[in-house]
Amino acid sequence: MNEIQLVHGRRIWDSRGRPTVEVEVTLANGIQGRSAAPAGASRGMREAVDLRDGGSRVAGMDVRKAIANVNGPIARELVGRPVGPQRRIDDALIRLDGTANKSNLGGNAMVATSQAVLNAAAANESKPLWVHLVDTCGQTPSIPLPEIQIFGGGAHAGRRIDVQDFMIMVPGAESLGEALLTTSEIYLAAGTIMERRHGSAGVADEGGWWPQFASNEEALEVLVSAIEAVGEIPGDRVVISLDVAASEFGSNGMYTLALEDRVVGTEELINLLGSWIESYPIVSIEDPLAEDDLEGMKEFTKLYGSRIQVIGDDLLATNAALVADAAQSGACNGTLIKVNQAGTVSEAIDAFGAARQAGFATIVSARSGETEEVTICHLAVGLGAGQLKVGSFSRSERMAKWNECLRIGEHPAAGSFAGGRSLSATWWQG
Ligand code: PGA
Ligand code: ZN
Repeated sequence: MNEIQLVHGRRIWDSRGRPTVEVEVTLANGIQGRSAAPAGASRGMREAVDLRDGGSRVAGMDVRKAIANVNGPIARELVGRPVGPQRRIDDALIRLDGTANKSNLGGNAMVATSQAVLNAAAANESKPLWVHLVDTCGQTPSIPLPEIQIFGGGAHAGRRIDVQDFMIMVPGAESLGEALLTTSEIYLAAGTIMERRHGSAGVADEGGWWPQFASNEEALEVLVSAIEAVGEIPGDRVVISLDVAASEFGSNGMYTLALEDRVVGTEELINLLGSWIESYPIVSIEDPLAEDDLEGMKEFTKLYGSRIQVIGDDLLATNAALVADAAQSGACNGTLIKVNQAGTVSEAIDAFGAARQAGFATIVSARSGETEEVTICHLAVGLGAGQLKVGSFSRSERMAKWNECLRIGEHPAAGSFAGGRSLSATWWQG
């Protein structure tokens, strides 16, 4: 009774108003699982391909081909198969696609299908998804430390500022609830400051305040002011993290800081980030250099990796082999886990395993284009990843995730709040 009877793909709409793929899997006993593909704006070159139709409709972003792949070859492949184990389903998808970058079926078609099957398998056992993951992956669950964007930037804000995410974490909180309460206060305080300075305060793609700044460093200064405005001492309970997303403004060792109207080399960018680390309570920097700047990443990690988390996103693309390589070369000491970069749940779990093996910090992450989908919250808890990044503290596609984590956290078996112990930032004492 647990075999897959129906695989149905449909077009739904994401947080940017763009089309995306949703897949619903129905088992012979009537039980269903559902999932939708997210979409990145600052995508790495090694990610699974996000298959779009091109042409003139919806700016070439339509996903009719990907949906046809779900309803055609993918459905034919999966119907009649048992709903688990997940690895067997994902292997079948990978074989059917037959490419290294999932350009045939589309990473969007594959990730929505893979996650829909996973959700159906959990539902079939009448278990919450995070419990199903604990049972099948054997990790110790925990409630993740949120990494929350206060100011958006880069590709998420019309490149009005170079750095993509100015974020906070509250590792000094006792619980997820307390961390979110403090985050809400700081988020609102930052909005009040922006409104006072500019008369208005809009938001960027992930719900962080629109970056009206003259320099990247000014954003850091205002972030510190917002933290202080709620009575917190920056670097005490509350710390700062950045996603530089440097691949978006640099390649071949040259980086264009458009906002500051200058081009800097690898060395200069490292020095600039180093000066911020000295001046601000920064515990984590993601993609400080571009994905093609391996030497720069190694140098940066050598200089600062013993103090802060150096996170590979574009660099690692949620790929186990790339994570193992980076551990070997010392290119970073932590990884983002984005299931749609890999294309299937099993490959994302493999990347997570490689990160654990390397002693890396792990951050499960959403994309800038999202839906009300909450699978990644269960993944973060069920794998005990330690940290979760889903954008800012507004817009329902973001809040759906924080709220789901609050619900999961009420369950006594969901583990304790990972808090400060999830951070591989040695200077932060907690
Ligand atoms: P993206 O950004 O989803 O637009 O790629 C998120 C990130 O870089 O972490
Ligand atoms: Zn990133």
